[in-house]
Amino acid sequence: MRVPPTNSPSPSTPLATTPPPDVLDACGAELSAVPPHERELFELRLRRWWPDLVGALADVYPEPVQVALASATLAARTFASRDTDLKRHDLKRSLEPDWFQRPDVVGYAAYADRFAGSRAPDPPGDVTEGDRVAPQQVPLRAICDRIGHLEDLGVRYLHLLPLLQPRPGDDDGGYAVMDYRTVRPDLGTIDDLQDLTRRLRDRGISLCLDLVLNHVAREHDWAVRARAGEERYRRYFHVYADRTEPDEWSRTLPDVFPDFAPGSFTWDDELEAWVWTTFNSWQWDLAWDNPDVFVEMADVVCFLANLGVEVLRLDAIAFLWKRMGTNCQNQPEVHAITQAMHAITRIACPSTLFKAEAIVGPHDLVSYLGQGSRHAKVSDLAYHNSLMVQIWSMLATRDVRLGVQALRAIPPVPTTTAWITYARCHDDIGWAIDDGDAAAVGLSGHEHRMFLSDFYSGRFPGSFARGLVFQHNEETGDRRISGSLASLAGVAEALENDDRWRLDDAVARVLLVHAVILGWGGIPVLWSGDEVGSLGDPHWADVADQAQDNRWVHRPALDWDVVAAAHESSESSWSSRVFSGLRRLVRARQGLPHLHAALAAEPAQTPDLGILSVMRRHPTGPMLGLYNVTESPRLVPGWWLQGRGLDASSLVDAITGAPPELDGAGAIRMSRYAALWLTDSR
Ligand code: GLC
Ligand code: GLC
Repeated sequence: MRVPPTNSPSPSTPLATTPPPDVLDACGAELSAVPPHERELFELRLRRWWPDLVGALADVYPEPVQVALASATLAARTFASRDTDLKRHDLKRSLEPDWFQRPDVVGYAAYADRFAGSRAPDPPGDVTEGDRVAPQQVPLRAICDRIGHLEDLGVRYLHLLPLLQPRPGDDDGGYAVMDYRTVRPDLGTIDDLQDLTRRLRDRGISLCLDLVLNHVAREHDWAVRARAGEERYRRYFHVYADRTEPDEWSRTLPDVFPDFAPGSFTWDDELEAWVWTTFNSWQWDLAWDNPDVFVEMADVVCFLANLGVEVLRLDAIAFLWKRMGTNCQNQPEVHAITQAMHAITRIACPSTLFKAEAIVGPHDLVSYLGQGSRHAKVSDLAYHNSLMVQIWSMLATRDVRLGVQALRAIPPVPTTTAWITYARCHDDIGWAIDDGDAAAVGLSGHEHRMFLSDFYSGRFPGSFARGLVFQHNEETGDRRISGSLASLAGVAEALENDDRWRLDDAVARVLLVHAVILGWGGIPVLWSGDEVGSLGDPHWADVADQAQDNRWVHRPALDWDVVAAAHESSESSWSSRVFSGLRRLVRARQGLPHLHAALAAEPAQTPDLGILSVMRRHPTGPMLGLYNVTESPRLVPGWWLQGRGLDASSLVDAITGAPPELDGAGAIRMSRYAALWLTDSR
């Protein structure tokens, strides 16, 4: 049993800024079969990233040089076995390091089987016989036949939800991995996965996969060996003989799944001990203070990168490091570990990007893209959880004040990184609203969070939303929310009431939400089904292992009949209106250099508190995004625009290609839930 260190070790001798001879020798041995010019390239990269690697490791481990030696050797082995095709891709990316920041990149996230299950009927659009999905095809192969749909949405980044071998039974949607080197058999094989990355790359699409690195399944080999009593593997986990320490830790630990997995520790009979389990009892947290865990996981990273996986989603990254007396999230060591891991990929497989899944409060978020000495050295991408939460909050209150306050308080991010902007994903929505931000606009954080839960579960009188409460925490009152974008935005409620007008509003809301995420900057990631306003899966509770987890309500199989109908240009159904509106936004975005992620988004209020304004300044001129978050027509006065250096009479809306509508006094008229992306036509 060990107590993780509470202070970072500081080495007594200063660290060398160049790799010592034994490191160069060890790498040289791995690279003996590699041509001299490639060996030289490797060495240049090693020298370039060595200080980042060893420096970060020194903030975490007592013997940083040893860990760096193991890491560099691993990097050399990875480089030596990397496909020529991928090495070429690495060089290509080095010529366009900002590819993921550009406005022509749209993301899409889906479960492989729910997106391209073998049940899927014919693909939409003009298809030739060869394009048809054979019923016997496994999902990883069938996806290749669905690329047309993705291309139509401008998708250049595809996140497939966990597809590596999970534990049997409930597996938290694949987030309980039993084997990182095998694909879940019903989805395909490792060869299928490699083939998929190749085919996607040929079509200009990068594949993102989850790297579940906070925990492994209880059935993973490391956990099996720990249970069998192997000391080396017991040290991969946080293991306690009795409740003394777990009780101490628990005093400050929040409950992630209070409903179905209360507490953060689980007694295991075979282990004859308590083990740290932040999430479910069968997801065992790894002991990241053990350098062996770091090297093992680095090996997994390199393995996936060499299959052609280009973006790794660092799942639940906030939880990696445990520190007594804290909530054990967002500890500084998390960022040091990410920096070291990042350096390894820069040396071995530099086109690999990291995406932080840190669903944390606004003030902890920016560190994941690098602040202070880690500026631009950690993840390349991070979920903009605050933007997502504030979008839903603005829609519920028809007021942008809290959103503007919270979003303005977020410090600028490194210009080489990008946010992932999103409205929905496979998870629930937790109301990550900072009490200080709420107080600054005269609200109680707690009460506002309670209101949002009431509103989005449909309890609040007059609410347009039809979500479900996920994980009611009796102690704190927290209630997170599940539900598809369309049901949270009012489509379900309008259909329930058979009300055409309300349906119009709901569709406009769905498009407004998308306009905000597409008009912010960064990679907007569409959640599968939302592109056609899917209401979710009505049968989610019928599957035994899923019945207690209502996040499955918003993880439906994509209905290709609906997609096919939406592709026809008819505007009749809400699905086709959502789809065509979304496509219009994607097209408009592609032509707006202002949306490059290196530039900052500057949110502001307008005189009308129902309108959000987002300014983006580009050398060619500004872009002003205006969003009416209410169901009534609103005005943006000409004098207010002038104060921002804009002349209403020379503005053009990039979404429609037409000038905005002005009233007699020169104010811009905004219809209900309208979005405008204005640039100066002069
Ligand atoms: C991440 C995933 C979520 C999962 C959790 C535990 O937050 O997005 O679905 O339950 O990690 O792995
Ligand atoms: C917790 C985690 C978040 C995850 C969610 C899954 O909120 O902080 O990372 O998405 O659980 O429900």
